[in-house]
Amino acid sequence: MKGIILAGGSATRLYPLSKAISKQIMPVYDKPMIYYPLSTLMLAGIREVLIISTPRDLPMFRDLLGTGEQLGMRFEYIVQEYPNGLAQAFVLGAEFLEGGPGCLILGDNMFYGQGFSRMLKRAAATDSGACIFGYYVKDPRAYGVCEFDTEGRVISLEEKPEHPKSHYAVPGLYFYDSTVTAKAAALAPSARGEYEITDLNKIYLEEGTLHVELFGRGFAWLDTGNADSLLEAGNFVETIQNRQGFYVSCIEEIAWRNGWITKDQLRTLGEQLGKTAYAQYIIDLSL
Ligand code: DAU
Repeated sequence: MKGIILAGGSATRLYPLSKAISKQIMPVYDKPMIYYPLSTLMLAGIREVLIISTPRDLPMFRDLLGTGEQLGMRFEYIVQEYPNGLAQAFVLGAEFLEGGPGCLILGDNMFYGQGFSRMLKRAAATDSGACIFGYYVKDPRAYGVCEFDTEGRVISLEEKPEHPKSHYAVPGLYFYDSTVTAKAAALAPSARGEYEITDLNKIYLEEGTLHVELFGRGFAWLDTGNADSLLEAGNFVETIQNRQGFYVSCIEEIAWRNGWITKDQLRTLGEQLGKTAYAQYIIDLSL
């Protein structure tokens, strides 16, 4: 399966920060935000990734991440001229996906928790239908929301409902089978003028092929939408890393653990990163 990171759009709740730099390049503690969604794709075993962003920001991602070869991966880049909806990722990404299945992750979504890799690998193995996730939040009104029947089957999906039918928000991580590009191409814009990911998910729901996996309460799905949540996410990463000594979303480490680069290559990557704790962590792993 191939992956897409959607890292464009304007981050109006982060002005003036996002006027200066792409939101998804801003640091969350000690690394650029995009490392977190990228690491999620890597944990799912995805080696080929398309990065979609604005005409202004795409060159920054290309500078930061390059061809992906250094991680034993392959990155491609494509511009989204206007932020007219998340489902557009599959129209822009149609050529990249070559008619195959695809996973979409939003460039500002961070996930962390026990058993996540296993869950991801299971979702990535889906060869028919779609797999999305549900996460209990206090106030789901800013999200896609899913409703379940008494047997736990999903019965409805709504985008940013004023009166949510449940507390289960749908995070920005979606796995789809090879019919996704045709389904996305057939979507019409919503009342707010966007090609909605929720509308794409509804097609799978109507077909009876939408699977929703729930994250438990011990799992972290973090937001980085405004200055407070950005700082909180940074503090979360700092707390885990300093307590455990294991880094959160160190892409070099994951590439090595996945067997995509050798220990020597890992060491070289660490040495190229200067005198930082992040670099030292990588070098220590390679000893
Ligand atoms: O974070 C999960 C939520 O993401 C889901 O629960 C919702 O169903 C989904 O619609 C989406 O809601 P948001 O309100 O977070 O979407 P937003 O328009 O803020 O876009 C999310 C990110 O994607 C943001 O960093 C900007 C980027 N983006 C957005 C659009 C619409 C793009 O790169 N291109 C776009 O066209």
